[in-house]
Amino acid sequence: MEKPAICGGKPVRETKIYYGHQYIDDADIQAVVEVLKSDYLTCGPKIDELEEKLCQLTGAKYAVACSNGTAALHLACMAAGVQKGDEVITTPITFAASANCALYCGARPVFADINEETFNINPESVEMLTGEKTKAVVAVDFTGQSAELDRLLSHCHKHGLVLIEDGAHVIGTRYNGKWNGSISDMTTLSFHPVKTVTGGEGGAVLTDNKEYYQKLLLYRTHGITRDPELMEHEIDGSWYYEQVALGMNYRMTDMQAALVISQLNKLFTFSKRRKEIVKAYDDAFGKLPQVILQKEIPESDTTRHLYILRLNLSKLKIGRKQFFEALGAENICCNVHYIPVYYFPYYEKLGYKKGLCPKAEKLYEEIISLPLYYAMTDQDVQDVIKAVTKIAAYYAVDEP
Ligand SMILES: Cc1ncc(COP(=O)(O)O)c(C=O)c1O
Repeated sequence: MEKPAICGGKPVRETKIYYGHQYIDDADIQAVVEVLKSDYLTCGPKIDELEEKLCQLTGAKYAVACSNGTAALHLACMAAGVQKGDEVITTPITFAASANCALYCGARPVFADINEETFNINPESVEMLTGEKTKAVVAVDFTGQSAELDRLLSHCHKHGLVLIEDGAHVIGTRYNGKWNGSISDMTTLSFHPVKTVTGGEGGAVLTDNKEYYQKLLLYRTHGITRDPELMEHEIDGSWYYEQVALGMNYRMTDMQAALVISQLNKLFTFSKRRKEIVKAYDDAFGKLPQVILQKEIPESDTTRHLYILRLNLSKLKIGRKQFFEALGAENICCNVHYIPVYYFPYYEKLGYKKGLCPKAEKLYEEIISLPLYYAMTDQDVQDVIKAVTKIAAYYAVDEP
């Protein structure tokens, strides 16, 4: 049996490979350079072009580009009217921003447990936690697989709640044949470099609701408007504008927008390659008793942003930490998505305690995010498979 590098064996590769990496080509660089040579670096034509493109792609009526996915979530909560005294239900298996957006508005995040097979928020848990104070649900499309939107939407609409889909991972995915972004009350996107499509930083909110759209525009720019219909005082001159609400500066630059547009031109290519890599991993790891595959729901045609290796610890002599370190020694540099949000000291101080979501907590003990990005070569993919297989075999429990 081959010895893992962590025990003195030869690593599967000499150079390190990371869990995510952006892909930037000459067209992307050219698109940004053109903006730099133009008149507008911000609030210019590239923002409109990106918003139109996102609408065309997803079928959403309105899109509002903004500075990042966190800003998008905050804007969506503000537009939904989330405020002090409200509760917002979300999943703990997510990046902190999915819950922080409720805190920004003075509301309390409530954590629903996950479906242990898909790792997404469990609609049943959302239903049980819904109460008088619940204002919105932030459903994350974890790894790019769509949350169970049919059930979540019907529950939200029955109880007058706003369904905000945190689609930071979801671009390129369809749910029941419709693009994610055209289904929930509002869907937020992130264009962070490890995401399928990047702008360096960047985000957007998609919606079909005109009222939300107008609020999103207002809150994105300080609550300031030049729209005479929204003004309260007499217009003083052609320079005149008014601040009619308290908003933020969450604008995206035209350089970012140009980069995202150029990246979106490659979305189908990116998506195809990510699907190929996921299939290669699933085919290989499906044969390993030491690994449990993430279940795909048939409704979601998924472009995976993350590949989660879930360890079947009952079949291994080591835990997740040792497995993770052993992969690192093979030069396969992984990550863990995610530490349950309420484990963080900030949340502890707000009164959240371990034990809230047992399935999410168990998942956290067993997961490793493997490299998954467009530019991975077939050799890279094979190296990851080889390393996982080697470590799983070496540390497999002896079957009687
Ligand atoms: C699920 C999820 N929500 C929100 C965000 C926040 O996006 P951004 O980093 O663009 O602010 C991220 C980004 O990492 C994320 O993964």
